[in-house]
Amino acid sequence: MTRPVGVLVPAAGLGTRLGPGAPKALRELAGEPLLVHAVRGLRAAPSVGPVVVAAPAADVTQVQALLAPYDVVVVAGGAERTDSVRLALDALDPAVALVLVHDAARCLTPPALVEAVVACLREGADAVVPVLRVADTVKTVEGTTVVATADRSALRAVQTPQGFRRDVLARAHAAAAGSTTDDAGLVEALGVPVTTVPGDEEAFKVTRPIDLLLAEAVLAGRR
Ligand code: CTP
Ligand code: MG
Repeated sequence: MTRPVGVLVPAAGLGTRLGPGAPKALRELAGEPLLVHAVRGLRAAPSVGPVVVAAPAADVTQVQALLAPYDVVVVAGGAERTDSVRLALDALDPAVALVLVHDAARCLTPPALVEAVVACLREGADAVVPVLRVADTVKTVEGTTVVATADRSALRAVQTPQGFRRDVLARAHAAAAGSTTDDAGLVEALGVPVTTVPGDEEAFKVTRPIDLLLAEAVLAGRR
């Protein structure tokens, strides 16, 4: 019997870059909150078992009601994404040994990407990240002056879901000094290898207003 995989969903961010309005996870896309789209996508992935959502502290009751059809645990998130992930991990059934961390803001992530990350974990990887090649050249700038240009062919943009052996993720978070937007980075800091799988363009993160337009278009294309 293959044991189910747990998913932690950080959803407690304010969505500052999206502009004024409700917290990002509660902003609407085609008439439903981003978080509902995100959780529905996770539930469409057969390997996904227990799901813990870290919601904005002021909206826990509302989020519990919104997600009632999806059998999830909702906890209050923290000030930084790292805090939200840690609080969700604390609420996950202790029997769950494999964990994904998935941004609510990547609300249209195809279930096939979730399954690809899980498959890599089940093959024995300690940590797994979906990656895409970067389209733009990336430079290091100090003030207004370019000081270096990275070799684009070696660069990858990292998405979620990121997958972990639970003990590795717990150890990485226990050792974390500050906050980070990338759980795999904490695992790298332990010296534990992180494996990549091909990402998916539809797993993009809704960050700026233009991303909502893109999300509407992707959804329209699926209908
Ligand atoms: N997140 C969280 N708790 C925080 C901050 C972020 O759970 N204290 C979550 C967000 O809800 C989001 C994911 O982490 O699903 C990725 O973060 P990001 O895209 O940066 O979202 P926000 O922090 O909400 O946006 P912004 O940085 O523009 O304020
Ligand atoms: Mg943020």
